[in-house]
This record gives sequence, structure tokens and C-alpha cells, in this order.
Amino acid sequence: MPLRLEGKVALITGAGRGIGLAIASRFQQEGATVLLNDLNVDGVSVQAQALDARYYACDVGDSAAVDSMFAAIRADVGRLDILVNNAGINGSEGEDVSARHEKSMRQMEQIQNGQPITEHNDTTIELSDDKWRRMMRVHLDGTFYCSRAALKLMRKGAAPGVILNLGSIMGTAGGAGASHYCAAKAGILGFTRALAREVATRNIRVNAIAPGWIETDMTSNLGPLAPVLAAQTPMLRFGDVDDIAHAAVYLASDEAKFVTGQVLSPNGGWHMSQ
Ligand SMILES: NC(=O)c1ccc[n+]([C@@H]2O[C@H](COP(=O)([O-])OP(=O)(O)OC[C@H]3O[C@@H](n4cnc5c(N)ncnc54)[C@H](O)[C@@H]3O)[C@@H](O)[C@H]2O)c1
Repeated sequence: MPLRLEGKVALITGAGRGIGLAIASRFQQEGATVLLNDLNVDGVSVQAQALDARYYACDVGDSAAVDSMFAAIRADVGRLDILVNNAGINGSEGEDVSARHEKSMRQMEQIQNGQPITEHNDTTIELSDDKWRRMMRVHLDGTFYCSRAALKLMRKGAAPGVILNLGSIMGTAGGAGASHYCAAKAGILGFTRALAREVATRNIRVNAIAPGWIETDMTSNLGPLAPVLAAQTPMLRFGDVDDIAHAAVYLASDEAKFVTGQVLSPNGGWHMSQ
């Protein structure tokens, strides 16, 4: 059987670890030439070496840096068939979030016990301009800058193109305490649908993957909330990175040649309508 991504060139952003790295590994196993991007040069260089792949360290939220990355890809490889806009943050990197999580647990206890609610979530009131902007910058600006640059490269090629954007169940369901993340992910879904319509006549498909709770560094600081979130998932657990990587392989492959503007949500049943 032929490999599903044989002969394709794919750039995966945020591929230094987690879901992005799993997508890069699966794409490579399916015959793609993978190009890895990440802000974290140390992480991505080690992973690129392990995969014997090229890497391009840059911040996807920096327009000029993204254009330089694509200029380098054009010079090094000359074409691009698949872009995966995966780079992301949860917005609380480096922070001690234990007090916030304990507060959420106390609120849940009050709700379950029918007690008066004295614990409230004030995350949005306390959210600074900088934190809001950083969230939009990485997810929305990053997805836009990379897609715009990728489209210019894809248009030059005769082969069909694919753009995959990482949304989240939070983009449609919402999540208390994460209004900036949810807004960014919802924006990515809108961008996906609009771009899918715009570039369909150029034989470029644009889809989104909206993962449920997946075990990665991003979700490693959930503390006491982790078992609650697993219990809210009909499959009673977090997913693993390969659950997302397999979905990405399908959407990137010609098996999905009639699929565009869609959201595929591997989420263990947490959200049954995307
Ligand atoms: N883990 C989950 O449960 C989950 C659920 C839904 C959606 N997602 C989304 O999936 C994607 C990957 O998440 P993950 O769990 O693997 O996260 P992760 O934190 O493990 O990995 C994210 C990677 O992106 C890189 N990155 C961050 N900012 C960047 C920037 N500005 N430019 C380039 N690279 C940057 C990081 O260095 C890191 O290597 C994200 O978009 C995330 O929002 C994750």
C-alpha cells in the first residue's frame, strides 16, 4: 500500500514537543518530508535531529520572522504542500496556578453540595492587556501569518495544498477562566471556514482539528482539575498526542480530498457536536 503522504512537504509549527511533534513524526512515517518550526530552538533542534528533518526556529506571532522562515523554506525546499498551524500556548506558562485551581475545586464542591456560592472565577476581570494580546498573537496572528505565507508558496505548485489549524473544544464550548484562549480558538475556526471557501478554487483545502483534553506539557499543570476533566469525558480519560496526529494524517492526505472547512474533534466524547 502506498504511504498516505508520500512526496508531500509539510511544515508543522510548534513541533518541538507535544501534539506538533507527534504530527511531524506520523507525517514522516507516512512518507512526508517534514519541516519543524518552534519558538524553542533547543527543543526543536533536538527533535529535528532525531527525525533527520530541517527546522526553522521562529515566533509565529512575528510577521517578519514568519516571512523570513518561508523565504528560507522557499530557498531550501522550493515548495510546500501542507501547513499545520499548531503552535499554541495556554496563557499561564510559568505561573503558579494552584490557588486558582483550588478555588475552582471549592466552587465545584459548593455547587455539588447545594451550598451558597462564595467562590467566583474572576480571571477575565484580572486579565491584563498583555496576556490577552499575547494569546491572540500566538494563535490568531500566528495562524494568519503562516497561512498567508504558505498560500504564496502553495499557489506556485501544481499539487493540491492543505492547511490544518489547531482549534480546541474550548473554541466552541467555552471554558471558565480561559476567555482569551477560547476567543482565540473560536477565531481560528472562523478563519478556517472563510479561508476554506476562499482558496477552494485553487485546490487548497483548509480544515481544523479541535482536540479534547490531551496529555501534553500544556495540560500538565491542571492539578486537581485533571481527574475532574477526565471524569467529564465519556471515555473517562485524556487523549494522547497520537489521537490528534492520526486525525491530522487523514485530513492532510488525499483520502480527505472532498473535505474542506470542517472541524474534526477527537475528544473522547466530551463534545459531541462541533
Ligand atoms: N493539549 C491539549 O489538551 C490541547 C487541547 C486542545 C487544543 N490544543 C492545541 O494544540 C496545539 C498544541 O498543543 P500542545 O498540547 O502540544 O502544547 P505544548 O505546550 O505541549 O506545545 C506547544 C509548542 O508550541 C510552541 N510555541 C509556543 N508559542 C510559539 C510561537 N509563538 N511560535 C512558535 N512556536 C510556539 C512551544 O514552544 C511548544 O513546543 C496548541 O495550539 C493547543 O492550543 C491542545
